[in-house]
Amino acid sequence: TPEPAESKATASFVVVANRLPVDRVEHADGSVDWRTSPGGLVTALEPVMRRQDGAWVGWHGAPDEALEPFENDGIQLVPVDLTAAEVEDYYEGFSNGTLWPLYHDVIATPGFHREWWDAYRKVNQRFAERTAAVAEQGAVVWVQDYQLQLVPAMLRALRPDLRIGFFLHIPFPPTELFQQLPWRDQILEGLLGADLVGFQVSGGAQNFLRLVRARLRQETHRDEIRTAEGRTVLARSYPIAIDASELHELSASEPVAARAAEIRHDLGDPDVLFLGVDRLDYTKGLLARLQAFGELIEDGTLDVDKVAFVQVATPSRERVEEYRQLRDEMDRLVGRINGDIGRIGRPPITYLHASYPRDEMAALYRAADVMVVTPLRDGMNLVAKEYVACRQADDGALVLSEFAGAARELRQAYLVNPYDVNGMKDKLIEAMQDSPRNKARRMKVMRRQVAEHDIDHWASAFLDDLGKTGPKA
Ligand code: ADP
Ligand code: F6P
Repeated sequence: TPEPAESKATASFVVVANRLPVDRVEHADGSVDWRTSPGGLVTALEPVMRRQDGAWVGWHGAPDEALEPFENDGIQLVPVDLTAAEVEDYYEGFSNGTLWPLYHDVIATPGFHREWWDAYRKVNQRFAERTAAVAEQGAVVWVQDYQLQLVPAMLRALRPDLRIGFFLHIPFPPTELFQQLPWRDQILEGLLGADLVGFQVSGGAQNFLRLVRARLRQETHRDEIRTAEGRTVLARSYPIAIDASELHELSASEPVAARAAEIRHDLGDPDVLFLGVDRLDYTKGLLARLQAFGELIEDGTLDVDKVAFVQVATPSRERVEEYRQLRDEMDRLVGRINGDIGRIGRPPITYLHASYPRDEMAALYRAADVMVVTPLRDGMNLVAKEYVACRQADDGALVLSEFAGAARELRQAYLVNPYDVNGMKDKLIEAMQDSPRNKARRMKVMRRQVAEHDIDHWASAFLDDLGKTGPKA
């Protein structure tokens, strides 16, 4: 539980993200709770911040609520307040109704509304001002993700002494899609306020460099941009990672091992346990994945008495229309599959619309024989890496979408095109039936990859490069 604390007035290292690592939640009876914020950004950055002495600037998740800075788990948290109207227009609107679908291959149709853009600008300015007030002279500031793309330039205007990095956690789209955005040049200019702009994969950095050349007429040389005012900005890729050793140890612990066995037992000790873990998001490919599994039982390839599928889906962005629709579609699909082909005590799909603590997640990963990660588009996907980190031996199998950033590193996964339901059915069977020898060969390489390229490696690669750029205060 966070404790209100004397806030240090300034910090030499500042992370700026839309969300703080904890959300303030108010219950119906008026009591207040804090819970870990959802998503990969917090999973990745929290351990980095715990090891640094710095401040984290972000929204605390509650509308119309003004909070003072406080300390949580050794991290200085600096809240940025949003009104209910700003949550609607900046967060649900421009961030998650415009940028999120546009940057994810327009899987849903982005909305282009001028009032959303106005709120995005205004809120980005507030984040920049809050950060300018917290950062020491010459501090390193690390701005995160698509909700805050204007902050680098706004912050530089206020504080030219700072060294500013920006990292995009989601895909940076192909140039043709990006150019639909009515405010495309403003976004590019916002990002160019940073000294270093980081992307998950090299394709994202290349798309950005191409746009900067074509639209803003800036000179580029390899991964360097020379801006009109004579600064150099670097654009590079840094595939994000997890705290692999910590998760591995958690998964190795006796209580987690016991809980993993209990989960399998409660599911009726299936021969094969399939697992999906996602935010409930239309980019995650949930419907086609469950459809593929359902068809395998329906057509007799899989025996409902011998297999089980657990799908955990964290509630996410519940006031955005597309997310409501997805929730209804999931309820319908799971209900239909379980109703059509389930037996007493044997629903083929166990669907949990909930968020769980880390030890429960580790137990689920440890229990699963086949991890199914099939996003239609994903910047990285940390769930895939978490499953690998939780292995205690070279066993288990990972079915992974070609369209997740993680597929670049986890080449030994059973790679699938998530739009191809038949292809997915074949891969689920292959992953399940492959020989232990083949599985071990694949998992061994992936375990080494995940262990060696962990979150500290990622943060120092980015921060070392950032340290070599920018103003010398
Ligand atoms: P995204 O950032 O789009 O949500 P990632 O796969 O990169 O996707 O990261 C998701 C993070 O959220 C992972 O650390 C995962 O363990 C966590 N997570 C996902 N679903 C749940 C859940 N139901 N309960 C607890 N944590 C979850
Ligand atoms: O990078 C993925 C991401 O969008 C983060 O920026 C975000 O914090 C997380 O997923 C969860 O989404 P939200 O903050 O909208 O609940």
